[in-house]
Amino acid sequence: MRVLILGSGGREHALAWAIARSPRCEKVFCAPGNAGTAGVGENLPLDLGKFDAVVAAARLHKIDLTIVGPEGPLCAGIVDRFEREGLRIFGPSKAAARIEGDKGYAKKLMRSAAVATAEGRVFDRYEEARDYIAARGASVVLKATGLCAGKGVFVCPDPKEALVALEDVMVRRIFGDAGKTVVVEDLIKGEELSVFALIDGHTIYTLDTAQDHKRVGEGDTGPNTGGMGAVCPAAIGTEAVLSKVDREVFVPVVDAMMRDDVPYRGLLYAGLMITPGGPKVLEFNCRFGDPETQALLVRMNCDVLSVLESVVDGKLADADIRWDPRPAVTVVMASGGYPGPYATGKVIEGLDTVSRLPDVHVFHAGTEFVEKKVVTTGGRVLAVTGIGRTISEARERAYGAVDCIRFEGAFCRRDIAAVAGRR
Ligand code: GLY
Repeated sequence: MRVLILGSGGREHALAWAIARSPRCEKVFCAPGNAGTAGVGENLPLDLGKFDAVVAAARLHKIDLTIVGPEGPLCAGIVDRFEREGLRIFGPSKAAARIEGDKGYAKKLMRSAAVATAEGRVFDRYEEARDYIAARGASVVLKATGLCAGKGVFVCPDPKEALVALEDVMVRRIFGDAGKTVVVEDLIKGEELSVFALIDGHTIYTLDTAQDHKRVGEGDTGPNTGGMGAVCPAAIGTEAVLSKVDREVFVPVVDAMMRDDVPYRGLLYAGLMITPGGPKVLEFNCRFGDPETQALLVRMNCDVLSVLESVVDGKLADADIRWDPRPAVTVVMASGGYPGPYATGKVIEGLDTVSRLPDVHVFHAGTEFVEKKVVTTGGRVLAVTGIGRTISEARERAYGAVDCIRFEGAFCRRDIAAVAGRR
């Protein structure tokens, strides 16, 4: 099969790597890809906002299956367009992707399906949201309802911070129309867990759990990022928690969507808070998480291409999914300044050395080739992943590789999976 992967981050490099290992894979294309995906297959310089060009490339390269990485094209309807053209594609329809693209819709869906989530209200008028926050006088989480590249959620222990964020989002429109409507919800405390489920419209298969480290600073301090590292599986994702998540989150949500004539097909990501009262949903995403996917895919000991194809074909019940029992840890190496402004074009050294290390995979996120050298192009640059018999061993492998890689301004968190490793 000829497979096209849409996207250019660490998640897409990990998907390309996993798919290329399938005995059924003839060639992998990645659009637009990065320096890492260029080493797995062929990069196509496409703008994912221009569906005509993406469809034309899929036809030109005789693509049998397209897999969508990021939420943007999914929420803009790329799956509907491919299906209209008779092209096979992995991911939810535009209507189903609203579960990520419209947080107000997700909140209403959870309410109608009786899924445990933070108490919250949706506002489309600034004054009403402002008066609600002021009258409550308590810690809240403010969310712009549209897509904001992971930056639209404000955790505000002090309501004054929430009022400032509200003005930024609804009045100054720092996210444009994505901030026309907001959700204001209670701040819930606990430990975060990412759970991904493959869903083919009716069958649900919950994958091993993962834990992301979203803050830029050690000890979970500083601003939120796209994710600075991950561990898979997560210790708090016990059998008991997972079966509760299946019964009380995925099944009712998938059923409610089916009842609304919006069947879900693709990967559904539940961002959960594990509280003393049980798991509560913080958010849904309509695609694989990044960097959790990097730690997850290195543990999938099966034909990932066939598994994803079974989702597209509505045959997930027949899929043969197997796991490497060993845990994996992913450490993100980022550009100095990230998640604020940062420089790019820095030459990365040491990649050859780490390519020879056992049980280490370096997935590229923000990189490209310039004059045969790999240089930085983004905030998150590399997702360095180690596997080991224990989390401590996986960490040692990942950090051992990190220490061999150099680029100007590079930094990473040194405490990824540290708590998990001590458990
Ligand atoms: N790791 C967080 C996300 O993918 O949204």
